[in-house]
Amino acid sequence: MTTTVLAAAAPTAAPAAAPTLAPAPALAPSAAEQLRSAELEQLIHRQPGRFRVLTGDRPTGRLHLGHYFGTLQNRVRLQDLGVESFVVIADYQVLTDRDVADRLAEHVEGLLLDYLAIGIDPSRSTVFTHSAIPALNQLLLPFLSLVSVAELGRNPTVKDEIAHSKQAAVSGLMYTYPAHQAADILFCKANLVPAGLDQAPHLELTRTIARRFNDRFSSGPGATPVFPEPDILFSTAPLLLGTDGGKMSKSRGNSIALAATAEETARLIKGATTDAERRISYDPEHRPGVSSLVLLAALCLEADPHQVAEEIGNGGASALKRLVTEAVNERLAPIRARRAEYAEDRASLRRILREGNERATAVAETTLREVREAMGAVYY
Ligand code: TRP
Repeated sequence: MTTTVLAAAAPTAAPAAAPTLAPAPALAPSAAEQLRSAELEQLIHRQPGRFRVLTGDRPTGRLHLGHYFGTLQNRVRLQDLGVESFVVIADYQVLTDRDVADRLAEHVEGLLLDYLAIGIDPSRSTVFTHSAIPALNQLLLPFLSLVSVAELGRNPTVKDEIAHSKQAAVSGLMYTYPAHQAADILFCKANLVPAGLDQAPHLELTRTIARRFNDRFSSGPGATPVFPEPDILFSTAPLLLGTDGGKMSKSRGNSIALAATAEETARLIKGATTDAERRISYDPEHRPGVSSLVLLAALCLEADPHQVAEEIGNGGASALKRLVTEAVNERLAPIRARRAEYAEDRASLRRILREGNERATAVAETTLREVREAMGAVYY
């Protein structure tokens, strides 16, 4: 894919007014998807209690600014609007594309720290790990009976991940992980999943599994459906590029981690790809490197990127980088301070995760019981 800076159009914008900067339309949600997300936003504001959100990340490294502006901020926003939220630290999913989950405990703790630092509140959001919730994982078995091998094989996200996998052979876990992800979402009967377009095929499969389960096992007279068909909520956030102008990624050394120090941040921005033109402008299509930096400053300052570019004017790349460094470090300072505070208190961290796992387990056991009842698999 080419470098699309403004991949996601604001869902409230009429389709015709959507930014025309994106050369690859496949990267942006369709007009219908945007409309649905806008409709959902209104419903959430009116009745947050009708929604339950599930989101999550794989514990493979530190969360970065792309995550922050792309999804993390949105999760905190939904939580603060009063939507009940579950956050999975997807530890079993780490093994989809590698043989061994490296430094797993460290990454799990790091994710938890990132979540707490950005404002995920454990009294309102349940943070848990896959591996601690047996009843969630057990849902995978009935769910796998509802999808064909062909359906699993043509999932575009799985295909893409297979193409980028570091393994010599594709594992069964790679094939089945969209069904496992359906278990993540459906164990708590989440009806809303805020995510990017890359997760859309998984969500479609989750809806299929929910529908088929309901049809097959709980559709008789008087039966109520066991599972909701969850909606995906597309974020309005534009896509940030890495400091090398490519896709921002935990593993490419081109991303600014939330947990990075101010000096590390300055160094990364100093090395960012720009161009020789002195006048700074916001033109993602023709000047992806410069524009991504402008966008980053604008997001941190909550300003319009064109205005930010205007203000730097003829200052060139050095003035731009100075501004970006300041803006990022200022924006992240309170987050980093909170993160450091939590990191001091390992006992609290362990307690937060244990309590999250206990809550998730209780919810998963209730759902599994309903599933077994619907399937006629309760014998005493
Ligand atoms: N697959 C997601 C990722 O790689 C993480 C994830 C696991 C997730 N389970 C989920 C996301 C359920 C949304 C819903 O980022």
